[in-house]
Amino acid sequence: MTGIMYILILLSLPFATVTGQSTDGSVCRDKIDNCATYGQTTCQKFQQWAQQNCRAFCQFCVAPPTTPVPCVDQLGNCQDYGATVCQNPLYAPWVMENCRYHCRQCSDDQLAIVDSKTTPPPCVDQINNCSRYGQVTCMNAKYKRWAQTNCRYFCRFCTQEQLLIADSKTTTTTTLATPLKPCADKIPHCDVYNDDVCTNEKYRSWAEENCPVYCMLCSTSGFVTIPPRK
Ligand SMILES: *[C@@H]1O[C@H](CO)[C@@H](O)[C@H](O)[C@H]1NC(C)=O
Repeated sequence: MTGIMYILILLSLPFATVTGQSTDGSVCRDKIDNCATYGQTTCQKFQQWAQQNCRAFCQFCVAPPTTPVPCVDQLGNCQDYGATVCQNPLYAPWVMENCRYHCRQCSDDQLAIVDSKTTPPPCVDQINNCSRYGQVTCMNAKYKRWAQTNCRYFCRFCTQEQLLIADSKTTTTTTLATPLKPCADKIPHCDVYNDDVCTNEKYRSWAEENCPVYCMLCSTSGFVTIPPRK
């Protein structure tokens, strides 16, 4: 009974005292209820729209304290989507719904807590010849799982922090031990081959090895990273 009374009293209080007020006297709250799904970037990028619709979420006014959205991934395989999905604004609502932590779309405080509890797998390759399988293995859906277990570092599936540490340790040794293969055609007349040789997945490793320039498979950082041309 007392509980019901309490709720009734709360309900009868003027709304503003419960929700807090901004300086101009209007209630500081969002016009739409899914501002979080658009992410914090929306607040700056589409400021005018955000001023209209997500004032509280974007902290354009002082809102009453709210419980933050938990900093978790709803999907178990956010890693599979890589980092691109986190940067593409088209996916922002999906990211906020499914891979908040993976894409680091939480407050700094939340991230610090979750980071301290999460131990990512070590940033190492389980086999010593990942590079022989090529970047293709990291990107091809068929091999990705295998690569996540075996070539985590080579495929750069590690967290940003891990990569910073791993890179600082390996840059010099890697350059000494296994210099990056210069991107050059091994055979003099790649153009005698049918174009198929560059585009067909079947010939990919042969093309990487023998005609990377002709097949436009070189990247600035060393060897093959760009997908085959259509
Ligand atoms: C990588 O090394 C393993 C074990 O030594 C070997 O079986 C495999 O064929 C190698 N892969 C390539 C692509 O060279």
